[in-house]
Amino acid sequence: MLKLSQLATAVALVVAGAAATAGEVEVLHYWTSGGEAKSVAELKKIMQAKGHAWKDFAVAGGGGDNAATVLKSRVVSGNPPAAAQIKGPAIQEWASEGVLANLDATAKAEKWDTLLPGVVANVMKYKGNYVAAPVNVHRVNWMWANSAVLKKAGVAGAPKSWDEFFVAAEKVKKAGLIAVAHGGQNWQDFTTFESVVLGVGGAKFYSDALVKLDQKALTSDTMKKSLETFRKIKGYTDAAAPGRDWNLATAMVIQEKAAFQFMGDWAKGEFSAAGKVPGKDYICAAAPGTANAYTFNVDSFAMFKLKDAGAQKAQGDLAASIMGTEFQEVFNLNKGSIPVRLNMDMAKFDDCAKLSAKDFVSTAKSGGLVPSVAHGMAIAPAAEGAIKDAVSQFWNDDKISVADGVANIAKAAATK
Ligand code: BGC
Repeated sequence: MLKLSQLATAVALVVAGAAATAGEVEVLHYWTSGGEAKSVAELKKIMQAKGHAWKDFAVAGGGGDNAATVLKSRVVSGNPPAAAQIKGPAIQEWASEGVLANLDATAKAEKWDTLLPGVVANVMKYKGNYVAAPVNVHRVNWMWANSAVLKKAGVAGAPKSWDEFFVAAEKVKKAGLIAVAHGGQNWQDFTTFESVVLGVGGAKFYSDALVKLDQKALTSDTMKKSLETFRKIKGYTDAAAPGRDWNLATAMVIQEKAAFQFMGDWAKGEFSAAGKVPGKDYICAAAPGTANAYTFNVDSFAMFKLKDAGAQKAQGDLAASIMGTEFQEVFNLNKGSIPVRLNMDMAKFDDCAKLSAKDFVSTAKSGGLVPSVAHGMAIAPAAEGAIKDAVSQFWNDDKISVADGVANIAKAAATK
């Protein structure tokens, strides 16, 4: 039996311990589809197990444009969330405003410099200090296909070139099904567009045109060919595509209404949540012509400067949890992505994830690893927004000629 004085000490210790650890994290994210919600729930569980309160701040809208707008208004009004899903060059923009917290203490204690690929670590840092924690690596240049639909249409397997793709799409159309499930929103249009540019022109051309924004590449014949191919794909989408959310397009493939979707591997999260098995119910393949290239998209959380000590502690724990092996495995199994932390055991992952992990490493060596423009990894937000608009205008308006489309995109690329 504890004596009363011992009991009092024990209680005091427990209370002190709780006060030292418990804090609230308000987390702004845009993971609201079935697969996404399952994934983010794992992070919530881990934080709650550490004694922190999780305040969910979900802003629906694929690709995160809505979340970015809401974040701006919160920061401007002096009330930022503890953490927000921000990535790529936008991290640098936020850091330059002086509003992000320094995560170096956690990063040093957890050895992030040795656990992250250099290409990722650089994006998480501002002037040499960590200001964001990376979650995963999504591959964007995927093509998803329903096996039963392909069979019904007499298509032997995933087409490897754009020429093969159009032959397959024609067969699907003749079989009375939708060839391409698409959601007409500008980030989805661009997700398809950048895979086309990568397939038509290769990784070097992609990089010159869409990352370096080189005017010569942007106005080249290869760009014209890319726009022609892009427009041709539109002919295989259905009339209800405009405005459709990406996960509803994925559902069309899952439910055997459509054959293909061009989307990053968060789409796999939807297949998994629906109990579908890759290689059996559906196929994951690199978009036509892009097997030797990889458009990467790294999700990450930037932390905002907060005054409350408990909240700061919770932020540190959030950053450490995100890079921990437990989270990296369970989150990415649900999300469709692969762990960003190096040397993780991939035994529990499916063949699509294993292919992604293998190609991430091999394309980093070959020069085929390029940042996704559609997903905010490559260029400053202003130019990105302008190019996306030009590409979507071309997609939506058949009266815009290929030559004008090329000129509009090249002009948009010069936006500062
Ligand atoms: C994000 C993914 C997300 C997808 C759909 C991408 O830009 O990186 O995490 O699942 O958009 O919202």
